[in-house]
Amino acid sequence: MTDFAATKARFHLPEGVIYLDGNSLGPLPHGAMERARRTIESEWGEMLIRAWNLAGWMDQPRRVGERIAPLIGAEPGTVATGDTLSIKMYQALAAALSMRPDRRIVLSDDGNFPTDLYMAKGLIESLDRGHVLKAVAPEAVEDAIDESVAALMLTHVDYGSGRMHDMARLTEKAHRAGALAIWDLAHSAGAVTVDLAGCEADFAAGCTYKYLNGGPGAPAFIYVRPGLIDEVRPALSGWLGHEAPFDFALGYAPAKGIARMRVGTPPVVQMSILEAALEIWDGIDMGQVRARSIELTELFIREVEARCPALRLASPRDPAMRGSQVSFRFEHGYAAMQALIAQGVIGDFRAPDRMRFGFAPLYIDEGDVRRAVDVLARVLADRAWDRPEYSRREAVT
Ligand SMILES: Cc1ncc(COP(=O)(O)O)c(C=O)c1O
Repeated sequence: MTDFAATKARFHLPEGVIYLDGNSLGPLPHGAMERARRTIESEWGEMLIRAWNLAGWMDQPRRVGERIAPLIGAEPGTVATGDTLSIKMYQALAAALSMRPDRRIVLSDDGNFPTDLYMAKGLIESLDRGHVLKAVAPEAVEDAIDESVAALMLTHVDYGSGRMHDMARLTEKAHRAGALAIWDLAHSAGAVTVDLAGCEADFAAGCTYKYLNGGPGAPAFIYVRPGLIDEVRPALSGWLGHEAPFDFALGYAPAKGIARMRVGTPPVVQMSILEAALEIWDGIDMGQVRARSIELTELFIREVEARCPALRLASPRDPAMRGSQVSFRFEHGYAAMQALIAQGVIGDFRAPDRMRFGFAPLYIDEGDVRRAVDVLARVLADRAWDRPEYSRREAVT
């Protein structure tokens, strides 16, 4: 069994804070601090340029990908890290559209995280070949998959509500219609069990600053199904995705395998932090993390509904349909979240009225959940949120 008390001890959690926002930015792992110092002082400081070889910087995007692969059910050698999730989604979609040249529909849902839709629209405009982005209601996705669809592009776990799509079922339906399936795993990696290989997903991408605790601005990852990768013509054909970057050839030739999804120079310090953060996952079974996450979200929903009648559940009630986060609607949700944060319980807010709470079993336990609800119930009962400073919108909500 996973020792969750031991994993919790591996994080720096500020005194007096209950952190329910690891679905936005995971907390600092102790090992990450140490590793960043080593990268900066001993590698950059002492080795200088030689560190690309001596400290293995050049191979880091592959090494880190190998650590992420088992957490998302990916085969070895199928995950590369780098860039941002927006860029990785662009790469995946560009590759998928070039593999289905006779089809014009990109199918998504209207609850998707906006950047995925923005990137798709930007790509469609650049291609200028008459593609159409069709974003239907999440429940209508399955019925909308037909033979006009080139790519099904979905976020597995909805950022706002935590609603989870059935990856296996939708991927299979996409394949039966001859379409490719692309999954955004931002709220899935490290949060729920994902079986990319078992589902035969074609492409997937995710970020590492949420449940994987890679720190602010941590690089993204991309997965391509092994049977497909040699067909991929990278749209972002940067030099580090070239088969021999240091030949400095004028013509582009893609690297073998997933390395062709690399673009340019990786963020080495940030990658090192991520690499250290991923060590916490060694030997951890995602099935046990998922079971624990369900216990925590169920407890939270039960307690909030019993003690905070003003809040309305905005997440699926069935845990099988829900990721590792829970949202509640409240008319004064923004102000209430600010009041809650002022009292040491950190969640976040998603427009128009959702208070969002993430549960990461690696460092959140039942006692945290109970204490968080105590504070929330008090904030609501005392109308502690009803102060002008709590209604002033910050840039990041
Ligand atoms: C589902 C989803 N996709 C994409 C993104 C954006 O990723 P990035 O800013 O790393 O490009 C986010 C950010 O939170 C997200 O939640």
